[in-house]
Amino acid sequence: MSDVLELVDVSVVRDGRALVDDVSWSVKEGERWVILGPNGAGKTTLLNIASSYLFPTKGSATVLGEQLGGVGTDVFDLRPRIGIAGVAMADKLPRRQTVLQTVLTAAYGMTATWHENYDKVDEDRARAFLDRLGMTEYLDRKFGTLSEGERKRTLIARAMMTDPELLLLDEPAAGLDLGGREDLVRRLGRLARDPYAPSMIMVTHHVEEIAPGFTHVLMIRQGKVLAAGPMETELSSRNLSLCFGLPLVVEHQGDRYTARGLPLA
Ligand SMILES: Nc1ncnc2c1ncn2[C@@H]1O[C@H](COP(=O)(O)OP(=O)(O)OP(=O)(O)O)[C@@H](O)[C@H]1O
Ligand SMILES: [Mg+2]
Repeated sequence: MSDVLELVDVSVVRDGRALVDDVSWSVKEGERWVILGPNGAGKTTLLNIASSYLFPTKGSATVLGEQLGGVGTDVFDLRPRIGIAGVAMADKLPRRQTVLQTVLTAAYGMTATWHENYDKVDEDRARAFLDRLGMTEYLDRKFGTLSEGERKRTLIARAMMTDPELLLLDEPAAGLDLGGREDLVRRLGRLARDPYAPSMIMVTHHVEEIAPGFTHVLMIRQGKVLAAGPMETELSSRNLSLCFGLPLVVEHQGDRYTARGLPLA
């Protein structure tokens, strides 16, 4: 299996502080990774490297076989091969575009605005992705009027539009109500188990948001990797407690996880 992402001794230093500190991590084709860690741990920074928008200060980062900053690597060729759904992206998208336009424009560059010359093939693809995310009834709604959950689902459909080899999701379930979260987890689970779906990396704060089909977990605290490997072995009470800095118990029931703090003695 080839490497989708290969970080070797990667640090990102800003104002003399390492936001990501000597991280080595490799993601192979077909793997579905979850990144867990407290606020400010460096999760989004790692995703920014994986998306090729941020280059390490030290170390080497190779994304889909291309070394960031390497001779012969053109990030503009690399970026369409990566789908990104995160809060930063939502803020860049025109609020007045319809849901269908918002997804369709992804095929023509980052945040391109609407013009009339879209291919029927692309429009059909956009409709199909939106349908898969349960957004068929919202095709003509203005993106800016969507609820948090509807916006998240639109962004995931949009990220799929370029047929990416790597899909990056930054807190896709944040701000969703219980029903919305469960609906999204179910849909992500379907995607994660689809052998034709891209390799995936999802950042989350809650083990309850880990969809079935996710295979690996990386835990990060203060920029340093605490644990990285298969979900069954690494998503342990011990690792999670170290990661969040308090005693926690993880339970695995069926194909889902829950975590809670231990009562004070
Ligand atoms: N450009 C920057 N300059 C200085 N510090 C930065 C910069 N970007 C991020 N940081 C800091 O780096 C740390 C890691 O940020 P990051 O966004 O990766 O955290 P995170 O794990 O995604 O947190 P959250 O769960 O809150 O989203 C934070 O302390 C943040 O304030
Ligand atoms: Mg973040």
